[in-house]
Amino acid sequence: MSDTVKIGRVEIKRTAALAPMAGVADRAYRLMCKRFGAAYTVSEMVSAKGICYSDRKTAELCTVTDAERPMAVQLFGSEPDFMAEAVKIVLEYKPDIIDINMGCPVPKVVGTGAGSALMKDVKLAADITEAAVRAAGDVPVTAKIRSGWSAETVNAVEMAKALEAAGAAAIAVHGRTRDQFYSGRADYGVIYDVKQAVSIPVIGNGDVTDANSCMRMYWETCCDLVMVGRGSYGNPFIFEELEATNEGRVYVKPSVEERMRVMLEHIRLMLELSPKSEEMAMHEARKHAAWYMNGFYGSAKFRGRCYQLSSYSEAESLANEFIELQNSRMNKNNL
Ligand SMILES: Cc1cc2nc3c(=O)[nH]c(=O)nc-3n(C[C@H](O)[C@H](O)[C@H](O)COP(=O)(O)O)c2cc1C
Repeated sequence: MSDTVKIGRVEIKRTAALAPMAGVADRAYRLMCKRFGAAYTVSEMVSAKGICYSDRKTAELCTVTDAERPMAVQLFGSEPDFMAEAVKIVLEYKPDIIDINMGCPVPKVVGTGAGSALMKDVKLAADITEAAVRAAGDVPVTAKIRSGWSAETVNAVEMAKALEAAGAAAIAVHGRTRDQFYSGRADYGVIYDVKQAVSIPVIGNGDVTDANSCMRMYWETCCDLVMVGRGSYGNPFIFEELEATNEGRVYVKPSVEERMRVMLEHIRLMLELSPKSEEMAMHEARKHAAWYMNGFYGSAKFRGRCYQLSSYSEAESLANEFIELQNSRMNKNNL
């Protein structure tokens, strides 16, 4: 397996890309993950119609900074004309890739016929892709799909073939049906089936949380690239870990001091990039702080305290306390 994969004209270095996650993977998050080796990043999903009606917040979601590249801007919509128009507008932000969301399960999106509702209308999904491809010129268009709408209607293979024929440059497959939302286990067999059926790159997605699950995804699906979502919560280090393992290097997990240093850096970045007041921006940073402290001794209590943070200096004090607790626990265990 070569260490790069080509999506259209864009060369991507393995091992794992960061999945789009609305409300989580904002610019600060993407920058942190990129720093630790994310192969590429994807914007939070943006409404194609919203862009056409020049919604300001929407435009902000489409901006691409060099440090996030290669980066895809992800659009959702259910009308080929709006999609084509939106792609033309998004091109002004110079994304490396345009991605179409065909997997979002939330009723607000599905109710408009977009997101995973497209899994039920392969012809429309192909028409939307074709319109986007035509509008995008030499910028590659990808699609992110699910295994199907329901267990009874798994159709990722049919969908992937239709999207390839419509000009998609790669397909990301989340191995769950829409009905599953995020429950159960991702089905890697479907991803394998898609990989056998198309000749464009296939990106495997679902439940990759560490080196073992990443290698399982590569081995069981033969996918070209892995995409990580929730496994990166409070854990941008995962990209470094996956890259090291893929290259046969020994990976040493970050110390608690390093983890807290990165958490504070992440929070600083969020505050810097947010137009909101420190207090308001800290509200958004709370969940991230809690994630960085997950899985450690006493973390339930600390996580609760994260949800009360209202300033950076409070986050700093909490991080110091967290480090002290972990170190004192380690010293006690060594005695
Ligand atoms: C909070 C959250 C937001 C998400 N937002 C998007 C989105 O905007 N676009 C999209 O295609 N998928 C979105 N997803 C789905 C993820 O990209 C991914 O497919 C899913 O989480 C499975 O991968 P994982 O097991 O690695 O998390 C979202 C998932 C979560 C948990």
